[in-house]
Amino acid sequence: MANVTFSSPILEKDVTVYAVAGDTKTLLALAKKNDIPIPCQCQDGECGSCLIKVTVLGDNPPLASHLTDKEKLTLSVNGKLSKALLEKIETKDSPPSYRLACQYIVRDEDILVEFSGEAGVE
Ligand code: FES
Repeated sequence: MANVTFSSPILEKDVTVYAVAGDTKTLLALAKKNDIPIPCQCQDGECGSCLIKVTVLGDNPPLASHLTDKEKLTLSVNGKLSKALLEKIETKDSPPSYRLACQYIVRDEDILVEFSGEAGVE
């Protein structure tokens, strides 16, 4: 089980929800289920409106993450994924800070998810 804490200026206070281990839903699905209003349009990794900042909490090293080609392209177009950062992600299994909520699969690690409430702005 993982704790996922959502933080945004549009929320009255931070909201922590529990994600069941082995559940392969996206972070956007988890947010919707808990009435967390992360902006979203395409829900398919193409528009960039669900841009979020993810920080792994706790003492364990972050789990390696896999970005889909769509997510890589959309983050690059939005200036959130440089070539150097992409190389680091791919060679060192180092997860990027900026992600798309509709592409991020929740895993068994505690995370802080920050979003502005404005589409495409973290
Ligand atoms: Fe369009 Fe996530 S909703 S990229």
